[in-house]
Amino acid sequence: MQKSDLRNLSLARREPAPAPLHVAIIMDGNGRWATARGLARVAGHRRGAASVRRAVEAALKLGVGTLTLYAFSSDNWQRPAPEVSALMRLFHDYLRKETAECAARGIRIAVIGRRDRLAPALRHEIEAAERATAHGRALVVRIAVDYSARDAILRAAARLKPAREATREEFSRQLASAIHSPACPDVDLLIRTGGEQRLSDFLLWESAYAELYFSPRMWPDFEAADLEAALDAFHSRQRRFGTVLEAAAG
Ligand code: IPE
Ligand code: IPE
Ligand code: MG
Repeated sequence: MQKSDLRNLSLARREPAPAPLHVAIIMDGNGRWATARGLARVAGHRRGAASVRRAVEAALKLGVGTLTLYAFSSDNWQRPAPEVSALMRLFHDYLRKETAECAARGIRIAVIGRRDRLAPALRHEIEAAERATAHGRALVVRIAVDYSARDAILRAAARLKPAREATREEFSRQLASAIHSPACPDVDLLIRTGGEQRLSDFLLWESAYAELYFSPRMWPDFEAADLEAALDAFHSRQRRFGTVLEAAAG
């Protein structure tokens, strides 16, 4: 090996490893998936729960650091009561069935959003899942339930001490705490399935510079390869954060 090769090698070694990504998904399209097959919407939600398992598995394999999944928005309370209770039941079942395996595989579960409107039994299941997986370092899975970004921002703003000059970092901390979230980086990649191209009150502050990726696939059809394709698209993009690239700077 030549001397210059050695120098390149040591330089390469000093390159910091890229930080693990924060991927957020608006899991949309369960209802349309079911309706297109002549099934009740709830059947779509059931299939959607299987997609969640696949997505978590894929995120772990692909080295994602944080995966935030939009499961139930605060506005979703306005849906018909049987659909709401089916969604809550599915969420409860998911936690009950998946917690042990997540704990064993280093996956930390965190539920973000409001808790005071959830049934006490579900709240206990959430607390048990978070406790059992708290040591997980391989992947953080945040599940957004009774979540509204605007309400969260309001709650965080109310917690800021008026006398102190607010910083973005301090506000981010207050926001995480207002939604019961462990600290995590801003969203790098925001995916929405189901073909709609809107945010529906999801992670408005945290997605300030997120790359957006809209997939026409309904959530029950979303597979590991789709997540991989979204990540490939992400890696092919150029993030500029408001500045200009070195090569373009005069
Ligand atoms: C996403 O699927 C799941 C939730 C919002 C709970 P939808 O139920 O919104 O499915 P579509 O958009 O009606 O097809
Ligand atoms: C957003 O989807 C919420 C979830 C995926 C949980 P919605 O289906 O509720 O959003 P809109 O009504 O199409 O904006
Ligand atoms: Mg929808």
